[in-house]
Amino acid sequence: MVFLVTGAGGFIGFHLSKALLARGETVIGIDNLNDYYSPTLKQARCDQLKQSKGFIFYHADITDVSALEVIVQNHPDIQIIFNLAAQAGVRYSLENPYAYIQTNVMGQVAILEMARQLPNLQRIFYASSSSVYGLNKKLPFSEADRVDCPSSVYAASKQSAELLSFTYYHLYGLKQTGLRFFTVYGPWGRPDMAYYLFAKAITEDKPITLYTGQNLSRDFTYIDDVVDALLSLLECSHLEDYGIFNIGNSRQEKVEHLVSCLEENIGKKAIINYITRPGTDIEATLSDISAIYNVTGWSPRTKLSDGVRLFTNWLKLYNGFFC
Ligand SMILES: NC(=O)c1ccc[n+]([C@@H]2O[C@H](COP(=O)([O-])OP(=O)(O)OC[C@H]3O[C@@H](n4cnc5c(N)ncnc54)[C@H](O)[C@@H]3O)[C@@H](O)[C@H]2O)c1
Repeated sequence: MVFLVTGAGGFIGFHLSKALLARGETVIGIDNLNDYYSPTLKQARCDQLKQSKGFIFYHADITDVSALEVIVQNHPDIQIIFNLAAQAGVRYSLENPYAYIQTNVMGQVAILEMARQLPNLQRIFYASSSSVYGLNKKLPFSEADRVDCPSSVYAASKQSAELLSFTYYHLYGLKQTGLRFFTVYGPWGRPDMAYYLFAKAITEDKPITLYTGQNLSRDFTYIDDVVDALLSLLECSHLEDYGIFNIGNSRQEKVEHLVSCLEENIGKKAIINYITRPGTDIEATLSDISAIYNVTGWSPRTKLSDGVRLFTNWLKLYNGFFC
C-alpha cells in the first residue's frame, strides 16, 4: 500500500514509518524539519528511513498548498494518510501561539483539502492529544466525555483539528480516525518532553523541576505500543467511517515514579526543585482505552519501568548528541 506520513522526521512519524517500511509498504514522508527541537535528531531519523527503498521524502511544510499539489500529482496512488506533523508541546504555546494555529489548524485543513484530490484515498488517521480533555476532572478520560475546556493553545488547536476533520467527513465523506495520544515516550523521543529533559539533567547532575501537589501523574505510553495500536487500526476491517480513539497505557503513574525509574537506570539521584504547576499543564491524565480494545483487540504491553530502561539505553548511546 502507499502511505503518506506527515511529520515523518518526528518521533511518532519516524517509528510508524519504520514499521510500515519493514512490512514492505511505500511511505511518502513530509516534514519541514523545523528547529522547535534539534533538527539534527529529525534529520537522523529521516536518514534511517531513507535506507529503505520504499521511502520517499519531501522536505516541505504541510501548510504549503503548492507543495502538497506537487505530491498529489506525483503520487495519486496514496491510499492512507497519517497526519502526524504538528507544533507540539503545551508550554511553548504561551510563547508562540501562532505556530500552533498555523500547523495544527491551517495544516489540518491543507491536508484535508489535499485528501479530497487523491482518487485512491481510503482513510486519514490524524494525531490529536490527551490535552483535549483539558480541565476535565473525571478520570479516566473517555472519548464520550465533553471536550470544551482546553487549558492551552496547543489543546485548543488539537480540538479545532478534530472539529475540522469531522466537518470534512460530513461534507465530503472523507473517512477519518482521530488518535488521542497520551504522553508517548521511548527511544528517538522528543528532547522537549519532561522524561527526556529529566534524563538529560540527571545524567549531567543538573536540577530538574517538578510541580508541587500530591497528584501530578501521567499516563505514559511506550512508543512500540503506540505503533502496534496504529497497525491494529490499519488492519481493522470494521472501523467506523469517522471516529476518535484514546491511545494510552491506561495506567496513572506519579511523575515521581518516572523520576525514580530514570534514577535507577541512569545510576544517579535527581536534584529536584519544586515550583507551582503552570496553568497550561493539567494535573493528571489517564486513558480509558476500552473503545480501541473493543474494535481492534489492542492493548498496551510495556510497563513504565521497562520502557524507561529501553529509553535510557538508547540515550546512553546518543547522549548529548541531539540536544
Ligand atoms: N509524543 C507525544 O507524547 C504526543 C502526545 C499527544 C499528541 N501527540 C501528537 O502526535 C503527533 C506526533 O507527535 P511527535 O511526538 O512525533 O512530535 P514531533 O514534534 O516529534 O513530530 C512532529 C513533526 O512534524 C514536523 N512539523 C511541524 N510542523 C510542520 C509543518 N508545518 N510542516 C511539516 N512538518 C512539520 C516537525 O518537524 C516534527 O518532525 C503530533 O500531532 C503531536 O501533537 C504527541
